[in-house]
Amino acid sequence: MSEDRKNYTIRDEIKDYWSLRAETFDQSVGHEIFTETERNAWYQLITKHVGKGHGRKALDLASGTGVISHLLFDLDFKTTGLDWSETMLAKATEKSIARNSDIQFILGDAENTMQPLASFDLITMRHLVWTLVDPKAAMKHWFDLLRPTGKLLIVDGNFKHVSWQRQLIKWIEKTYSMFQKVDKHGRTTEILETHNRILEQVYFNEGLTANAIVEMLTNLGFENIIVQTDLSAIHKAQAKGLGWFKYLDRSVQHRFAISATKP
Ligand SMILES: C[S@@+](CC[C@H](N)C(=O)[O-])C[C@H]1O[C@@H](n2cnc3c(N)ncnc32)[C@H](O)[C@@H]1O
Repeated sequence: MSEDRKNYTIRDEIKDYWSLRAETFDQSVGHEIFTETERNAWYQLITKHVGKGHGRKALDLASGTGVISHLLFDLDFKTTGLDWSETMLAKATEKSIARNSDIQFILGDAENTMQPLASFDLITMRHLVWTLVDPKAAMKHWFDLLRPTGKLLIVDGNFKHVSWQRQLIKWIEKTYSMFQKVDKHGRTTEILETHNRILEQVYFNEGLTANAIVEMLTNLGFENIIVQTDLSAIHKAQAKGLGWFKYLDRSVQHRFAISATKP
């Protein structure tokens, strides 16, 4: 290994991977929101689990380009978005200025935010947990960041497990697009390889399940844990933009929202 790569850790690799993807991230359905139907489906999901903000303080971890942060802002949460990729944060800030929102976007590590303890009413994250290096320590940190009665809302999925239904869909899709070098998310073969290499190295390298998260949250003392595996309202709203294969794939994947309350 060359000298300059010696201290290059899995965390650096994850950070660089997302920084590379920041430029095109918002072009994908499933990342940015392109229809009011989808936006309303997200509002419904969030309010069902945690209600409206009424000025409560929310921390959106791994906020990326700020898609979830903006939903929270719309729902009247006083929102902070945190991400460790400067290029992601730059995109998020750009959008925040364009939308005239007062969301504060800050640079930081979701596993150790350096934010004041017992200071947030809500902590959200979409598609973060699957790449956490030390999820148990991270969840303990989030528990500490919440005020008593504060809530956690996790949106994630098992992107590793390929059920027979997914295998079939992928096989048909591959046959149709044999000579494509770029996938629907604008990812080149090289980016896909990095994605898969990261997936091999993270804690949930066998795939992330709602049950695994529930077990960790329960052990930490979270209460009122609610698991929602039916995200079909969101996926249906995304269907047209996703294309037929991706929509089918998404419908059979184990995707979920989990909310939990700090006593
Ligand atoms: C799949 S994107 C999701 C972005 C956003 N949550 C969304 O759903 O649109 C993953 C984001 O997580 C960020 N990320 C991953 N691990 C992180 C960590 N430990 N601390 C801060 N940001 C992290 C990446 O930089 C990237 O912006």
